[in-house]
Amino acid sequence: MTALFTPLEVKDVTFRNRVGVAPMCQYSSVDGVANDWHMVHLGSKAVGGAGLIIAEATGVSPEGRITPACAGIWNDDQVEALIPINKFIHKHGSVAGIQIAHSGRKGSSATPWDGGAHLEDNGQGWPVQGPAGIPFDPDGQRLWKTPKAMTLDDIKTVQEQFVEAAKRSLAAGYKLLEIHGAHGYLLHSFFTPLDNDRNDNYGGSLRNRARMMLEIVEAVSKVWPENLPLAVRLSAHDWIDGGLTEEDNAQMAIWLKERGVDFVDCSGGGATPAARSSVGTRTADQVGVAAHIRKAADIKTMAVGYITEPEQANRIIETGMADMVLLARQMLRDPFWTMHAAQKLGVDHKAFIPKAIGTFV
Ligand SMILES: Cc1cc2nc3c(=O)[nH]c(=O)nc-3n(C[C@H](O)[C@H](O)[C@H](O)COP(=O)(O)O)c2cc1C
Repeated sequence: MTALFTPLEVKDVTFRNRVGVAPMCQYSSVDGVANDWHMVHLGSKAVGGAGLIIAEATGVSPEGRITPACAGIWNDDQVEALIPINKFIHKHGSVAGIQIAHSGRKGSSATPWDGGAHLEDNGQGWPVQGPAGIPFDPDGQRLWKTPKAMTLDDIKTVQEQFVEAAKRSLAAGYKLLEIHGAHGYLLHSFFTPLDNDRNDNYGGSLRNRARMMLEIVEAVSKVWPENLPLAVRLSAHDWIDGGLTEEDNAQMAIWLKERGVDFVDCSGGGATPAARSSVGTRTADQVGVAAHIRKAADIKTMAVGYITEPEQANRIIETGMADMVLLARQMLRDPFWTMHAAQKLGVDHKAFIPKAIGTFV
């Protein structure tokens, strides 16, 4: 069996292969509620053979969304809409995961196809908050609102929202929970020195800046079952001077592992406008970081970023750089990427592709 198609067992969950669909905002929800779009987007990747499908950044509160059209998991209607999608994914042999998220100072934005600018508070937008009162791009052409520097009460509220979101994720049927700690959103903006100038227990030293994430992980692991995998997505490198390095993130990974986290999903960038974005980082750089963290923290990693070719993906697993590969844009181009990869690598795709398709192609 090729490395890419070797199953992976983590706790009570078996991933049928090492191919995962990276979380991708669809900007297609109404009031945070998923619909038939999400069924087709996520369901097609399950039918296409992926081992894991991580649903998009899903707001733990209305203000935790990036745009008004982003997904949410703060009420029961949202849970109800997700249940059939997850049943479908599991029926077709994949594992449904969710990324729970808070957008922080990057929230209240228009969708990318409407320009992505901040929305005024008097329209569809909302006031944003962060570790400090520093806007994402103070000198930019686009409006970036000045966030409210969060008080200790604000911090507690958001931490409780993550716990409630974890409970609801379980109720919605997810088998993997990922906490979004990347791309300049709230938890990353606490961790990176670029966005956090606090002088209390949540700012200053690396350990203090990690506190927001670590407290959330501790609280979430009390409600997320011990037999189901827990993942954290990090911007495992800030890709800019003065930002987080892979060493900082290896230390974060050690702290996360001590608290029961199974996977670090190694993305990157997004802390400031000058830093590289998460979709603009070369594979070699980002996969290298995943390999470094895997070794330094002795933790499972997911590698992501410009992974497009079956041989490339297989090599990442075979050479021990990561335990899973996540594909984003390539899965948009080809929801059947996993089946095509199997065919290219000489693996019997009929063993895992639904008969209604596998019998004929
Ligand atoms: C349309 C789109 C939406 C995305 N939404 C999210 C998201 O919700 N959460 C996240 O962590 N990353 C998100 N990303 C980043 C991807 O998960 C991934 O890390 C990035 O696109 C690099 O992988 P790729 O080269 O395979 O596209 C998004 C990317 C795209 C293209």
